[in-house]
Amino acid sequence: MSSRVIIALDYADAKSAMTLVSRLEPSACKVKIGKELFTAAGPVLVEAVAQRGFDIFLDLKFHDIPNTVAQACMAAARLGVWMINVHALGGRAMMNAAREAIESVPRKPQLIAVTVLTSMAGPDLREVGIDAEPLVEVMKLAELAGDCGLDGVVCSAHEAAAIRDRIGSRFLRVTPGIRLPEDDAGDQKRVMTPQIAIESGASYLVIGRSVTRAADPLAMLDRINREIAVLETQR
Ligand code: C5P
Repeated sequence: MSSRVIIALDYADAKSAMTLVSRLEPSACKVKIGKELFTAAGPVLVEAVAQRGFDIFLDLKFHDIPNTVAQACMAAARLGVWMINVHALGGRAMMNAAREAIESVPRKPQLIAVTVLTSMAGPDLREVGIDAEPLVEVMKLAELAGDCGLDGVVCSAHEAAAIRDRIGSRFLRVTPGIRLPEDDAGDQKRVMTPQIAIESGASYLVIGRSVTRAADPLAMLDRINREIAVLETQR
């Protein structure tokens, strides 16, 4: 089975990203290219990483009117990536347009939705007019994404089991906020270890600094993969 680990390539330029990518094996992880790296290095970098055989999560979190998001999703899908995403707050029409836009693309990517950003707590939501606790809002938006035929959501591992139980195990739960027991949490507020996140219902783990800033990133990735493999043999 392919790895459940998605390494976040949070680098400012292509050279730094490719230095790590050239050391990684596509069988050991997938990779995530987000707004910083994509804005700096663009589709050329995406194609270079794809050519090395990696499954790429292009994390651009589109949120705009339906037609614009549909066109953006089609352009992203044509880059040959494995996964793309939109904000569920863009609503039903936007998510339906995104799904329909990529239906005819060869090697259609997984299309997932961001529910509530993990940087937002109850008071932040109220300030933008959402008078609900984050978990309630997350569940509402995850159900809407499922209803629109999306393949899953980005969520905290704390929410993964509830989403799986409500929407079904085929609906993907992609979870950032992963830290190893010996790590600092850094700017992530609610963190979980890889093992506990998988046990809590995560389908894929997005891991950045715990691997990229480790003294030996490859050894750290190997350790995480082995820990997950042990859990899978126990199932
Ligand atoms: O270094 P760290 O493991 O915290 O990196 C997490 C990655 O997941 C970053 O690329 C961050 O942008 C992303 N992410 C997140 N929280 C979200 C969505 C994405 O941390 N809700």
